[in-house]
Amino acid sequence: MRVVKGGSREEWADYVAEMLIARLQVRPALRLCLPTGLTPVPIYERVAAAVAAGRASFRETEVFLLDEFGGVEPDDPGRCDQMLRRFLLANVNLPDARFHRFRLDGDIEAECRAYEQAIGAGCDLTLLGLGGNGHIGMNEPGALPDSLTRRVDLAPETTAASARYFAHDRLPTWGVTMGMATIMRSEEIWLLAAGARKAGIVQRTVREDVSPSLPASLLRSHPTTLLIVDDDAGREI
Ligand code: F6R
Repeated sequence: MRVVKGGSREEWADYVAEMLIARLQVRPALRLCLPTGLTPVPIYERVAAAVAAGRASFRETEVFLLDEFGGVEPDDPGRCDQMLRRFLLANVNLPDARFHRFRLDGDIEAECRAYEQAIGAGCDLTLLGLGGNGHIGMNEPGALPDSLTRRVDLAPETTAASARYFAHDRLPTWGVTMGMATIMRSEEIWLLAAGARKAGIVQRTVREDVSPSLPASLLRSHPTTLLIVDDDAGREI
């Protein structure tokens, strides 16, 4: 895993956004896995501005949502698909048919199998945030390297942390997520972290043994993972 220190939070967001814009320019039919959470928001704003300015396009791109909260209303603004729409997709020209997300009102196992099939050999590029307990997507501590897209229970601390996405206190206790193996099939992975709150878990991700007890550490076995941190998140490495 190569580590890139991106400077201030603004510089870090500029850096990641420009790299993503460059990928879209070189490969317009990019197959992209995108997270939600708060980490990527400034990056998405910059990429949307670049699309508005005609510097990039999602017209041929395919987007796979990384994960989704279960047990919340389909139109809840805290849902991952709603967040990705609000912060990025509503402002870019991605055809709706090429936005892959999870429908959780039917047979969830069948939905997860279909998701795996749609991803096939893997995404070209996967962006990831980093949970405070080292989770990746909703792969909580204990997630195995060969795990696929599936329903998962959230760790209590992940449920508690989700309060910042929801305007009510009916917080999710489960979700569906691409598995560690699904993520690791991606040609490129960018693990993103910003802010002092992430400094400790960034340090553990880089220094602790590679182990399912710290899912982010498993990414160190991937040949092209970049860990891209701002100065605050990277201050202990
Ligand atoms: C969201 C996701 C989560 C977040 C992580 C960090 O789709 O997959 O793993 O990336 O919980 O969340 P933030 O960015 O809000 O600190």
